[in-house]
Amino acid sequence: MQITIFGATGSVGHYLINEAQRRGDTVVAVSRHAHSKQSSGVSWQSVDYDSLDSIVKTLAGSDAAIISLGDYDVITPTQNIVAAMKVANLKRVEILTGFGTSSASRKQLGIGMRAVMTVMMPMLRTKEKQDQIIRNSGLIFTIVQPPTLTDGPATHAYRYGNYGHKSISGHIARADLAEFMITNLVEDRFKRESVYLQN
Ligand SMILES: NC(=O)c1ccc[n+]([C@@H]2O[C@H](COP(=O)([O-])OP(=O)(O)OC[C@H]3O[C@@H](n4cnc5c(N)ncnc54)[C@H](OP(=O)(O)O)[C@@H]3O)[C@@H](O)[C@H]2O)c1
Repeated sequence: MQITIFGATGSVGHYLINEAQRRGDTVVAVSRHAHSKQSSGVSWQSVDYDSLDSIVKTLAGSDAAIISLGDYDVITPTQNIVAAMKVANLKRVEILTGFGTSSASRKQLGIGMRAVMTVMMPMLRTKEKQDQIIRNSGLIFTIVQPPTLTDGPATHAYRYGNYGHKSISGHIARADLAEFMITNLVEDRFKRESVYLQN
């Protein structure tokens, strides 16, 4: 499988690349800046998120895209990636947002955690907007909603989907998150759904 990763230079991006390489998948790693790094199965491409043509080029030959952008000013890039995917006729997308970033996903939480998230909502506006763009895109999406991310090796011991006591004060290793996200695309699970996960 070939996956275009937007935000590939980020704190999660390199775990996503490592996991795809480990599985033998091919990555188009996308950054706003030029990179000359070379490693097996990975091609780096620079992008201008204000140019549809530029984004479409990064999608050539890919089966799916991952959006793992930073926290600020990412609304327009997200909208333009969706528009470019339609031009490129690419339907499968996975986006990393944050814990509880939609009313639909907050319904999966216990009552106490829903109350906590109501207080936190003003801090989640950008992620909530990204969530809405993807839900309304017509694409086949998975919206991944982890709590705090940690570094270190994969534990392979994490819960996802329909588990109890989902909590924003939980954590998940970026390596485990990457394992989940790449596997989820390859196995085509959680289609048109958001999903929580934590160690
Ligand atoms: N840290 C946590 O505990 C935590 C918890 C839950 C969810 N998350 C979410 O996980 C996602 C990925 O996190 P991360 O730490 O990998 O992100 P990050 O390192 O802050 O950013 C990822 C990449 O996005 C690109 N980027 C940043 N701002 C951009 C902008 N305005 N427009 C276009 N591209 C931009 C940058 O790549 P280039 O400069 O190379 O283009 C950057 O390297 C984020 O959405 C974050 O909110 C994080």
